[in-house]
Amino acid sequence: MLENKQKILKFPKGFLWGVSTAAYQIEGGIYNDWSEWEKSEARKRELEKNSKKHANFVAGLACDSYNKYKEDSDLAKKLNCNAYRFGIEWARIEPEKGKWSEKGVEHYREVLQDLKKKDLKIVLTLWHWTNPIWFSEEGGWANKKAVDYFSRYVKFVVNELGDLVDYWITLNEPMVHISNGYLVGIFPPNKKSPVKAYQVFKNLVKAHKVGYKIIHKRFSDAKVSFTNLTNFFEPARKWCLVEVLFAKLADWFWNGSFPRRTKGYFDYIGLDYYFHDRIVWYPPFKKNKNQEVTDMGWEIYPEGIYWSLKSLSKFGKPIIIIENGLADADDKKRADFIINHLKYVHQAISDGIDVRGYFHWSLIDNFEWAEGFDPKFGLYKVDQKTCQRIARPSAKVYAEICKSNIIKISKL
Ligand code: FCB
Repeated sequence: MLENKQKILKFPKGFLWGVSTAAYQIEGGIYNDWSEWEKSEARKRELEKNSKKHANFVAGLACDSYNKYKEDSDLAKKLNCNAYRFGIEWARIEPEKGKWSEKGVEHYREVLQDLKKKDLKIVLTLWHWTNPIWFSEEGGWANKKAVDYFSRYVKFVVNELGDLVDYWITLNEPMVHISNGYLVGIFPPNKKSPVKAYQVFKNLVKAHKVGYKIIHKRFSDAKVSFTNLTNFFEPARKWCLVEVLFAKLADWFWNGSFPRRTKGYFDYIGLDYYFHDRIVWYPPFKKNKNQEVTDMGWEIYPEGIYWSLKSLSKFGKPIIIIENGLADADDKKRADFIINHLKYVHQAISDGIDVRGYFHWSLIDNFEWAEGFDPKFGLYKVDQKTCQRIARPSAKVYAEICKSNIIKISKL
């Protein structure tokens, strides 16, 4: 009976079903600009001021994925994923300027080989916001030499590991690094300088383009992109011209700046969708209805993924959804969240948008940057003491989707 009321939506053959992680958030034991910032007195004072327990905001051993990487890839397999997106940590590979760590690169080779053996397509992130100490001490991404340093790193990785990579992500969400690190100041290097922010933007654009060229020189058919945090900016009132204009401007600036400036230098676009911003004409220019929110207070707005896909589709390249997910410790909302978002992904595909895959953020609970370990994004819960991974009920739902390549939605 129930079956009759359900509609089956089929995804294209060969659709990538995956889960996403990032090195610093899961590996543990990394020494870089973030690990130093977390330990700084300033950070401690700031957390104290907000009555937060410092220990919960230090990545430390994280999920111990450095040692448990085989367990993680087994979990991805259990979810019936055919792909895995993760990152390598620059600071492990080049801990000192110009000195390459054999141990670091050997480790990642083993990680990649393990994934290959398990027949998982590899989506590799080269830079996910964190920098080696020597790099940040020289001024990080605001330094003129940053692009040269990054190119050298990319060259090294391409030579050492490139044969095992299926999809490349040079930079993760560059606009977020710029705004949180150089404007709002909540990520290291904690600056509030529009001038620096613009320098960093220009350097990241260059770094991506050079990275793209390096990868393509070695592997002409490589698939290279960055990830673009793409919000759905919606005018609160469609008849209010100012709100319409502001929403368009926000889309043009936040969603479009990086792809516009790197046009011709990506083979697909990596889309991350988390946010719906309902734009009003008066400060703070955003007024969401928040009928349903995640544990972090982020509005759940599945339709927005459709419009985000639409916004990026104008760049004329296939799109892979590299991140989409929610903090939901009780796992009450995750299964519906996934299905409802996928419904709109399916609609986008039906409307002719070339979407090639969906990666859920995240495989396991992990270190959520400035928010520490509180938000629980995992399909698998991680016991913070033992690092044991325990499936949440929604894992089963996602596993079924990945296996069947379909979602079932209620017709009502
Ligand atoms: C994205 C980041 C990712 C994770 C999710 C929740 O912006 O790329 O590392 O923190 O948000």
